[in-house]
Amino acid sequence: MDNFKTVDFSSLGEEIKSLLREAVEIRKRAYCPYSNFAVGAAILTEDGSKVYTGCNIENSTLTPCICAERAAVPKAVCDGYVNFKAVAVVAYQKDSFTAPCGVCRQTLSEFCGSDGDIQVYLSKPTLDKVLCTKLSELLPLSFVSYKKDSVIEN
Ligand code: THU
Repeated sequence: MDNFKTVDFSSLGEEIKSLLREAVEIRKRAYCPYSNFAVGAAILTEDGSKVYTGCNIENSTLTPCICAERAAVPKAVCDGYVNFKAVAVVAYQKDSFTAPCGVCRQTLSEFCGSDGDIQVYLSKPTLDKVLCTKLSELLPLSFVSYKKDSVIEN
């Protein structure tokens, strides 16, 4: 993680500070009795008008576990927002930031803004240091569907 930029929370703009605070709040709802690893995520829509939050939701059979990021995405999409500007992810690991897993990176890549990217902010619940990156850095050369622009016939 040494090659990623970290900044003080206080140096960020109000929009991103608020996004990170929402991720801290929703993390309190994490349902994670199996891992005891709570994660909160907050997505800012491209037009900056809405924030959708999610926490991780685990299951006794493990496979259906939903990451915080992928709990937030359907809320945004069902509300009609399919282009995201930024996502904040908050979890606690003593010596590192928690970055979205591979499945979440691919899921988010479906909903990039018009600049083809999503800004990503990672922090601990104490919101002191924030790692600032972007999806294109976390998922370079991502798969782009050859079918995305195809017409639905019926
Ligand atoms: N988790 C997330 O919510 N987001 C990630 O990007 C990484 C992992 C959750 C899934 C599981 O409930 C717990 O963290 C431990 O892996």
